[in-house]
Amino acid sequence: MLIHSASQLLTLSGGPQRGHDLGSLGIIPDGALLIEDETILAVGTTDELRAAYPDEPTLDAGNKVVMPGFVDPHTHLIWAGDRAAEFERRLQGISYLEILAEGGGILSTVRTTRTSSMSKMMEETRPRLWSMFSFGTTTAEAKTGYGLRTATELRMLQALLALNDEGPLEILPTFLGAHAIPPEYRDRPDDYTDLLCDTMLPILAQWWPHHAPYHPLPFVDVFCETGAFDLEQSRRILTRARELGFPLKIHADEFDNLGGAALAAELDAVSADHLVATSQEDIQALAGSDTVAVALPATPFGLAEQVYTPAQDILDAGGLLAIATDLNPGTAWCENMQFAMPLACRYMRLTPAQAISAATINSAAAVQLADRIGSLEPGKQADLLILTVPDYRHLGYRFGANLVQTVVKKGHIYPN
Ligand code: NIG
Ligand code: FE
Repeated sequence: MLIHSASQLLTLSGGPQRGHDLGSLGIIPDGALLIEDETILAVGTTDELRAAYPDEPTLDAGNKVVMPGFVDPHTHLIWAGDRAAEFERRLQGISYLEILAEGGGILSTVRTTRTSSMSKMMEETRPRLWSMFSFGTTTAEAKTGYGLRTATELRMLQALLALNDEGPLEILPTFLGAHAIPPEYRDRPDDYTDLLCDTMLPILAQWWPHHAPYHPLPFVDVFCETGAFDLEQSRRILTRARELGFPLKIHADEFDNLGGAALAAELDAVSADHLVATSQEDIQALAGSDTVAVALPATPFGLAEQVYTPAQDILDAGGLLAIATDLNPGTAWCENMQFAMPLACRYMRLTPAQAISAATINSAAAVQLADRIGSLEPGKQADLLILTVPDYRHLGYRFGANLVQTVVKKGHIYPN
């Protein structure tokens, strides 16, 4: 199939974009691309590709932008229940970490998720996946972390694998058993850290090849934060995970600077995420590594806070910057990368082009898939969007509406 007559074909070619290279869209005016099955075979101008492939069935992009599907590299998309009542309390002035310390917040979702069957979890999650997909997310990372005990954490992983098999959204699971200290370990967080290191992670390492033989190992993530896991506990968990061969992620500096970003760089984590309270020193450490800095602007927005990820400092230091939604029932129930982007433009001062790179090729790097998705290049997977607009800058400029007209996932066409 030949998709032709794109006003702007954004190729994002050339791999992940460091520092001020961010925003290199590789635009082909009047662009076209050729797809066979689930793979991109050729990219060029409409004239070139029409001449080279005259007999190919065609799809007219109608003088609109064609670009890679969004990759959302940080979500907590599977859970049961909601926290609408907590939202009202936060509006009255009680903070997110205060609610967590009371046994609410994440722990409230842990209670509803622990009592949910796998099919109930999947049923509540499916509409969110379709919403993400229709807003243009073709691949998403997805964390566990509302079980905090082996059986429920594994049930969450099993549900994520099953939802991935249902498609069309591709899901990359992350084990976040270290999301909070479960109530039964409230006064002995080190014992829960031991449980993670000595029992849960080794069980996961054995469980995975049997239940997901065709998938790479999941990421292992830790919420390194006041009231969750301190730096030493985070280091122990991530070091153990690394010994077992898992790729690493970390929630660092969402509220307080505990040093999680430098730890991520030291342990060669795939990404360090949130990065709001990050020190200049830690930004330098991160930027000097291959760890992707993942900003989650829907989270400070969702918490009505004023401070966002210091993206300009990360770019000045030469870091790899990506953005994600952080979709979760507490801080940011946001399924839409097209909402994270305008926030990144306004509060992190990204240009629309930079926000697009951060939501495609760099977010693909944040899930170790930059060689398969995140750009439109021959040999890559045919995951792409046809927008309703002729100029890419509408992404970032506009918000609150869906600017995706058609999603193409692995070569299959899904009109909105
Ligand atoms: O990334 N901070 C920790 N985890 C999520 C929130 C999860 C929740 O509140 O349920 C986050 O913001
Ligand atoms: Fe998160």
